[in-house]
Amino acid sequence: MTKITFTDILNYKKNKRKIVAITSYDYPTAKIADNINIDIILVGDSGGTVVLGHPNITSVTLDEIKMMLQAVNRGVKNSLIVVDMPYNSYNTNIELTLKNANELIKLGADAVKLEGGLHMQSTIKKLVDSGIPVMGHIGLTPQTASFHGKYQVQGKTKISANKILDDAYALQNAGVFSIVLELITSEIAQIVTESLDIPTIGIGSGVNCDGQILVLHDMIGLYDEMNLKFVKKYVNIKNSLSNALKSYKNDVISSTFPSAKNTFYMSKKEYNHLIHSLNKKN
Ligand code: KIV
Repeated sequence: MTKITFTDILNYKKNKRKIVAITSYDYPTAKIADNINIDIILVGDSGGTVVLGHPNITSVTLDEIKMMLQAVNRGVKNSLIVVDMPYNSYNTNIELTLKNANELIKLGADAVKLEGGLHMQSTIKKLVDSGIPVMGHIGLTPQTASFHGKYQVQGKTKISANKILDDAYALQNAGVFSIVLELITSEIAQIVTESLDIPTIGIGSGVNCDGQILVLHDMIGLYDEMNLKFVKKYVNIKNSLSNALKSYKNDVISSTFPSAKNTFYMSKKEYNHLIHSLNKKN
C-alpha cells in the first residue's frame, strides 16, 4: 500500500468506489485505521469534546488540535490526513488563517478542513492558491450550529436545499478537493453529489454521498453523550472497558493480580545469599 493521494480520492468518485473516512485523535487508533487502509483520517475538532471533554466544539484550541494531529501523524503511513481548523483559527483575518493552516500542514496534515459555504469562498480560494489543500464542510456546521439555532437536519425545504447547493458550488469553485455534507436530507445530498465533480463525504446525509465519515468514538460506543440516529455502533467499547476495569479492581483487591505469570523473581541461589547476608548483619 502507498500513500493515498488527492488524485486517488477524485478517481474514487469517477470510478464509483466509495471513500471511507474516520476521525482519529491519537497514535494507536490512527495506526489501526491506517493499517486497514482507511482512505481519510480526520483529526476532527470533535476530538475536543469526545476525547478532551470540552463542553462544546468552540472551546477546542489550535494547540490542542496540533497535539492530536502530531500523535495521529506518528501512526499514519498511508491514509490521507485531514485536520480541522478549530473555531476562530480561520475566521478572523487571512494572514492568521494562512499562518495557522501552514502550521498544521508542517505538523503532518495533508489538508485542512474548515466549515462554511459561500461566505468562506474567498478565504478557501486564498488557502488553495497558496498551495494548501482544503476540504469543505457544509450542511450542519457544528462550530456555528449553536449560534444559528439547533442541531437540526438541513435541506428539508426548497430554500434550505438551494442554499446547500449554492454553498457546494462556491466551495467547488474555490478549489476544495472534497466536501463533508453533515446532517443533510438524503435527497439533497444526492443532488449535490451528482452535481459536483469533487467527492462528497457524508455524515448523517444518507447513502448516496461519494463517501462516509463517522466520529470514531461514536461508532465504537466510547462516547455516548449524544444519541445520534445516523451513527451505527459497531462495538461497545465503553462496556468492554468498564468490565475490564471491574475485573482488574476485583483482582487487585483479592490479590489475584499480579499472579506468578506477571511477576519477576531472583534465582534461588541469589536469594539465599541475600537472606544469609541480611541475617549476618542483624
Ligand atoms: O470534527 C469532526 O468530527 C467532523 C466530522 C463530523 C466530519 O468535522
